[in-house]
Amino acid sequence: TDGGTDAAKRRAGERAAEDVEDGFVVGLGTGSTTAYAIEAIGRRVGDGLAVQGIPTSFQSRKLALEVGIPLTSLDAVASIDLAIDGADAVVDAPGSDAHGTLVKGGGAAHTREKLVDSAADRFVVVADPSKLTDRLERSVPLEVLPAAHTVVADRIRDLGGEPSLRAAERKDGPVVTDNGNLVLDCTFGEIEEPATLADRLSALPGVVDHGLFVGLADATYVGTDGGVEVRQY
Ligand code: A5P
Repeated sequence: TDGGTDAAKRRAGERAAEDVEDGFVVGLGTGSTTAYAIEAIGRRVGDGLAVQGIPTSFQSRKLALEVGIPLTSLDAVASIDLAIDGADAVVDAPGSDAHGTLVKGGGAAHTREKLVDSAADRFVVVADPSKLTDRLERSVPLEVLPAAHTVVADRIRDLGGEPSLRAAERKDGPVVTDNGNLVLDCTFGEIEEPATLADRLSALPGVVDHGLFVGLADATYVGTDGGVEVRQY
């Protein structure tokens, strides 16, 4: 990423970290933008803030431990006060039903991200302007049981999509998620009704979860050159 994008990601992440209050249980998303929020929360913990974090991936757990955020888990808390997470695409189309819809899973972490983000009282997305789009044309990642990948791929073609098994970069073979599953990246052309597609994908046996986040985000903090723009949903 270029310096401009990194600065924007940092602004968004650090702004979201300011929303963490003493005593909060915080969902810790995955990716380079959320990493800035996790680092900033860690600095606040160093200054005496009492929080407990719930990581959404091996990577966010590792970073949270490095910066000194005490960790807990979903089954040990009554509720999550705030979740902070990045996105690969954020629909920015005020007035449309899809406004605020996300595509996630570029890091293959979307199943646990959706679990934690949807359990939070408030879910804030952190993004740089390159993530904003008025048309949803991105491929949708599906986490699938290993035994199901060919069957699910067939059903995706039935739905008019084109599936591709995500390959690992430094290993011969597929990406294996933190949960031991595989990832199918599925293109559908322009997705005009994400809520309908989300329901169809959720209904497929063998799909653990998909990367469409419909109606889950409460706000997006967009880092820009000069500051942070807030979208409330
Ligand atoms: C992980 O699976 C994704 O959902 C990430 O949240 C997403 O890729 C955002 O990452 P960046 O902040 O690095 O763009």
